[in-house]
Amino acid sequence: MTLKVGIVGVGNIGSIHASVYKENPGTEIVAVCDIVKEKADAASVKFGGTPFYSVEDMLASNIQLDLVSVCTKGEENGSEHFTPTMELLKAGIPVLGEKPISNNIDEGKQMVELAKNNKIPYAVNLNHRFTPAAERAKSWLESGRLGQIHMINMRMWINNPVESSPWFHLRALHPHSFDVIRYFCGDVKRVAAFMMKGEGREIWSNAQIILEFENGAIGNLVGSYDAGASYGLELCEVVGSKGRFVLEDACEHLTFYPRTSIETEKFSYLGGMRAFSETFKSRINSFVDQLVTGVTYDRVDGSGEDALKAQLIIEAAIKSWETGTIVDVKEVGLISGGVK
Ligand SMILES: NC(=O)c1ccc[n+]([C@@H]2O[C@H](COP(=O)([O-])OP(=O)(O)OC[C@H]3O[C@@H](n4cnc5c(N)ncnc54)[C@H](O)[C@@H]3O)[C@@H](O)[C@H]2O)c1
Repeated sequence: MTLKVGIVGVGNIGSIHASVYKENPGTEIVAVCDIVKEKADAASVKFGGTPFYSVEDMLASNIQLDLVSVCTKGEENGSEHFTPTMELLKAGIPVLGEKPISNNIDEGKQMVELAKNNKIPYAVNLNHRFTPAAERAKSWLESGRLGQIHMINMRMWINNPVESSPWFHLRALHPHSFDVIRYFCGDVKRVAAFMMKGEGREIWSNAQIILEFENGAIGNLVGSYDAGASYGLELCEVVGSKGRFVLEDACEHLTFYPRTSIETEKFSYLGGMRAFSETFKSRINSFVDQLVTGVTYDRVDGSGEDALKAQLIIEAAIKSWETGTIVDVKEVGLISGGVK
């Protein structure tokens, strides 16, 4: 079965999605859509598919679409996903959106609820958890190799001089961090955040965020948009009662450290961000495989709901820093149904 795919927003990241679909023998790009005509036309020539200049026209054409990637951007890298995603979900088409799900929690909730109500698979490109190294580490947690989870130390940093909003660093970068954190340790219960503006900056470009999980584990995130290229992007250390693992360089290198011996078990390269596009490939192809095997809306890996939950932790951190208090994530997220 070949999935007929569309891509909405064929900028930098939309083009990476398109390259992945073009390489996958199980998918065929049938539509490329961008409000900038030249971009849609150029993508059509490069990747194939009919060019469209609005989602409305693409849907009105009645072209068969089994999956659409929404790779728009907007404020804090997430404000433009809402309208096209709602239009597609209303039309019953499965969506793979970009992160953040939205920079606006209410809009994030509406998308998740619509997908749920219409029973449409809705995924977000939370690509960092889809690497072979991250998946192996997760299997250790599931098999009990680490014992009971005690702590997580997560670090994600990169140099990004953009100053578009006070919370740009939190809302645009840390959907990835909090998704990896939730993937390994489950839902976060309470958050306490400290932030600082890096030298010469107007935005909260550095953050230390302390976490308490629903399962009783504790942890923290160190995040920054003032990091050097030589620092590496990501480090994740999970500590349990029987041992710990360390994932480095965006889920690329994985090491297991047993608690009761000094022997370590190292996996030097299990796939990851050695080339940036590698994580896209494993994530996008995983959703394609799920759709081919008939995944239901509530079994999607890296779902819209997962992305929304990561965003709720971010909003709890912002609230914590603004109020100088420890914030309950459920208080931020409660409100309407759909989010457990
Ligand atoms: N998952 C990751 O690792 C990762 C990495 C980087 C960026 N991103 C995310 O990818 C997204 C896209 O980033 P980018 O750098 O490619 O942006 P970009 O500006 O290069 O591309 C966005 C495109 O969307 C088009 N567009 C906007 N509204 C549209 C609409 N309603 N219909 C059709 N087209 C529309 C724009 O014209 C533009 O061509 C962002 O949300 C960003 O956060 C994800």
